[in-house]
Amino acid sequence: MSTTIVLGAQWGDEGKGKVTDFFASKADLVVRFQGGNNAGHTIVVDDEKFALSMVPSGVMYDTCTPVIASGCVVDFEVLKKEIDSLNQKNIDTSNLKLSYNAHIIMPYHKVLDELIEESLGDRKIGTTKKGIGPCYGDKIQRKGIRIQDFLSPEKFKSKLQENLNEKNKIIEEIYKGKALNFDEILSEYETFRELIESLSTDTSLFISNSIKENKNILFEGAQGTLLDIDHGTYPFVTSSNTSAGNASIGSGIGPLNFEKVVGVTKAYISRVGTGPFMTEQSNKIGDYLIEKGAEFGTVTGRRRRCGWLDLVSLKYSARINSLSELFITKLDVLTGLDEVNICVGYKFKDQELTDYPLVEDILEKSTPIYKSFEGWNDDISSITEFNKLPESAQTYINFIEEFTEIPIKYISVGPERKQNIIR
Ligand code: GDP
Ligand code: IMO
Ligand code: MG
Repeated sequence: MSTTIVLGAQWGDEGKGKVTDFFASKADLVVRFQGGNNAGHTIVVDDEKFALSMVPSGVMYDTCTPVIASGCVVDFEVLKKEIDSLNQKNIDTSNLKLSYNAHIIMPYHKVLDELIEESLGDRKIGTTKKGIGPCYGDKIQRKGIRIQDFLSPEKFKSKLQENLNEKNKIIEEIYKGKALNFDEILSEYETFRELIESLSTDTSLFISNSIKENKNILFEGAQGTLLDIDHGTYPFVTSSNTSAGNASIGSGIGPLNFEKVVGVTKAYISRVGTGPFMTEQSNKIGDYLIEKGAEFGTVTGRRRRCGWLDLVSLKYSARINSLSELFITKLDVLTGLDEVNICVGYKFKDQELTDYPLVEDILEKSTPIYKSFEGWNDDISSITEFNKLPESAQTYINFIEEFTEIPIKYISVGPERKQNIIR
């Protein structure tokens, strides 16, 4: 048996889709354990690009069963579209499994996500407006509608009525929005019944049995550690736990079942939406990284903010997640820069911090301390052996490994499935 968690060590978009797909050729199951269609995971196979938001990245292999587990939130319309689009490209989705306990993103969640963001003005989070926060909010308040509630038509009707009464009041009276119609929602959701019935199951039991049968299982994280609701840059975070512990909770299998945790990190860093960003480069360097790295959101098309790699936050991420190895992506994007910087500490008043500060005020008043590295110009995008990389690129990678004390086992040098260095 092997069980591996793949997750983002930064603010998302690290290349989890590519990395999950890389490992998925040998996996029997790929499990999404949190998040919803706020995720946008890209896989490139023979120049064809696939953007997945809800279906786990293992779907690309016939031999792999994709599982959407209990910790996820699901928008039926998006799920159906994604399945249809994969099927049109001859990718089989017939073995996809969906947990009875996953929560449903309802139309009022999306409306509220928009209205709440608008009302926040300057303090807005910059959410994906997919209804993620309001849906998880209902789950925590024990008002949410789960897949199993939907499967029982009478229960679904009464839960929808109860929720809609409350949500319409909030929408109209607090946010001055337009109320939603019960019958329209009900009839729209009926069109998904057959599909959802065919996918739903007890995924916790299915994964547990697969572990007993010595299957290879991958757990695919969404978003990134710094967007974790408990451990990220709150309130500028997503509404679920994105870190490794939630692979256990969100999948419904005990914590002793996990063997490896692969942290995916870019060779630099990016962030979409608002919130603190210690090493942000709002200058020519940032523009270079955005252009060369094609840093535009998979889900919303928004321009991602870019900056230098931050080893203080990467070390924090390694600690929070028990990272056993690192998968560095997008090293090729740094090619062509004269000088490459890495943040090795935060300066706060007269102190030098090397542990990530949890207190927001300290984080906001700190400035980055950089170590400079010589850049490289040779095209590295077809290199498959570490010692063939330019010496300065090797020095850069070796420094990250020494600083974080986490082995860098893989380096990605392009978006294609095969563009990897295995060390
Ligand atoms: P995810 O959300 O973590 O799966 O990442 P996204 O798919 O949102 O963003 C990563 C982007 O970088 C995608 O467009 C990938 O195709 C691309 N990508 C992944 N690895 C590499 C790499 O090593 N080099 C380059 N140039 N692009 C990469
Ligand atoms: P993947 O899986 C990058 C960000 C949003 C916003 C914050 C809250 O592709 O890495 P939400 O809609 O979740 O309530 O938004 O989280 N965010 C992401 N940023 N990649 C993602 O997913 C993200 N999912 C959410 O931009 O700042
Ligand atoms: Mg993404």
